[in-house]
Amino acid sequence: MTLTARPAWKALEAHCAAVGATHLRTLFADDPDRGERLRSEAAGLYVDYSKQRVTDETLRLLRALADECQLRHRIDAMWRGDKINTSEKRAVLHVALRAPRGSSIELDGENVVPNVHDVLDRMGTFARGVRDGSWKGHTGARIKNVVNIGIGGSDLGPVMAYEALRWYANRDLTLRFVSNVDGTDFVEATRDLDPRETLFIISSKTFTTLETMTNAQSARAWALNILKDQSAIARHFVAVSTNAAEVAKFGIDTENMFGFWDWVGGRYSMDSAIGLSTMLAIGPEHFRELLDGFHMMDEHFHTAPFENNLPVILGLLTIWNCNFLGAATVAVLPYAQYLKRFPAYLQQLTMESNGKHVTLDGASIAYETSPIIWGEPGTNGQHSFYQLIHQGTRIVPCDFIAFSKSLNPIGNHQELLMANVFAQTEALAFGKMADQVKAEGTPDWLVPHRVFEGNRPTTTILADQLTPATLGALIALYEHSVFTQGVIWGIDSFDQWGVELGKALAQQIAKELGAADTTATTHDSSTNALMRRYRNAR
Ligand code: F6P
Repeated sequence: MTLTARPAWKALEAHCAAVGATHLRTLFADDPDRGERLRSEAAGLYVDYSKQRVTDETLRLLRALADECQLRHRIDAMWRGDKINTSEKRAVLHVALRAPRGSSIELDGENVVPNVHDVLDRMGTFARGVRDGSWKGHTGARIKNVVNIGIGGSDLGPVMAYEALRWYANRDLTLRFVSNVDGTDFVEATRDLDPRETLFIISSKTFTTLETMTNAQSARAWALNILKDQSAIARHFVAVSTNAAEVAKFGIDTENMFGFWDWVGGRYSMDSAIGLSTMLAIGPEHFRELLDGFHMMDEHFHTAPFENNLPVILGLLTIWNCNFLGAATVAVLPYAQYLKRFPAYLQQLTMESNGKHVTLDGASIAYETSPIIWGEPGTNGQHSFYQLIHQGTRIVPCDFIAFSKSLNPIGNHQELLMANVFAQTEALAFGKMADQVKAEGTPDWLVPHRVFEGNRPTTTILADQLTPATLGALIALYEHSVFTQGVIWGIDSFDQWGVELGKALAQQIAKELGAADTTATTHDSSTNALMRRYRNAR
């Protein structure tokens, strides 16, 4: 049955027509305790969704929709190792990456958890060696710089986690991240580094990605330019990949390779060996705490009733906002400078997962799927795009993320930061009416400009402090929320066919740009003209 024909969907449509426009002012006035009730807590995260435009009936109908879409069954299928990534015929078992030692998650009858821990142990030994100086560079110099080369899931997670957990990082190590095929990225990241003290981590699930392989070749040339000796590669390059054959072909000894598996999607891989840079920065013990945080949220998602299951609630609220209230985007607003790359990380997690136009069985979809994710840390965004969120013509549901205790408590910064979180969510929900504005003595002509309609939906996620464990829980919360949304939409959240066309065309065009015959006219008139202009200018 198509999603829009389901009884719960139809009931939600009728419900939305009846109460969807009810103002949050009314919802709070009629139900003064809703702020105490529409909230839930798990794995150290307190989530207040009372400022979403929902009633108890909305939530009941959304859960009914989840039941009709067999969410429980699909969660179980994921944990069972079923090939729920149907278009790629793969299991989806990132939850096994953080399963505790001694536990069991099976794929085709084999427990994969021991393999996960073997790799974690090898990563731990390597990371300790680099951190304590016993792993030396080719000339005997200590490694002081680590450069992760990767893109997409092999970059965004590592960068985000490094920035997020910088407070816990070993400051004697300089971490850099190179992703873009624009040579500027590599040149600027390495210009002040000494190859004798630099370790490259080539991170690529496939080990065939154009950007990563191009940067890896440049890194090798850069290193050999000083180190001269091919055998130096073994001390300065390690690989993280599922593709041992390509790693060996590149010239990295597979002894220096940390593996993962095809059941880990790129955007779900930051807690696999792809997290090697994170482990080098924060150490194996903190990395373990990160995994424990993920695991706590996994357990909650796997076992908690949907009524208080945080990823399920957040996923269903996204369905409500996007498919019924008509929101096209979600703003992610961390009030924590350390989370500055979190919105970028969530862009790939969400949009590469759920930006899909067909169902699992290939039928066209006639409803909206993934919202567009964007955001910046607060309070910076307040002085930039919040104007639109407060007074624009579009609904932009926002996720506010905050931590009660600062890792850097100076002066009254933290109090001011938190005051802004609470002020923004209150202002967005309740706004400011014309009579209030007038009562302040505003001239009539100015009143409309100073009115805030309010009724702008927000969720607030509050944790005590930014720790490796809270970060893990936070990421897992979003991972499972994305899965929940995908189940409702009936799509494959774990493939990414939409990146293929551009990749293939770029390969073709690169060949043409390099060809001796510069008159190629195989494309449309716009592309041909742009290519001509580029050739003439280069
Ligand atoms: O092009 C998209 C993509 O395949 C992402 O899904 C992935 O995270 C990224 O490229 C990098 O892939 P790899 O780790 O194989 O280099």
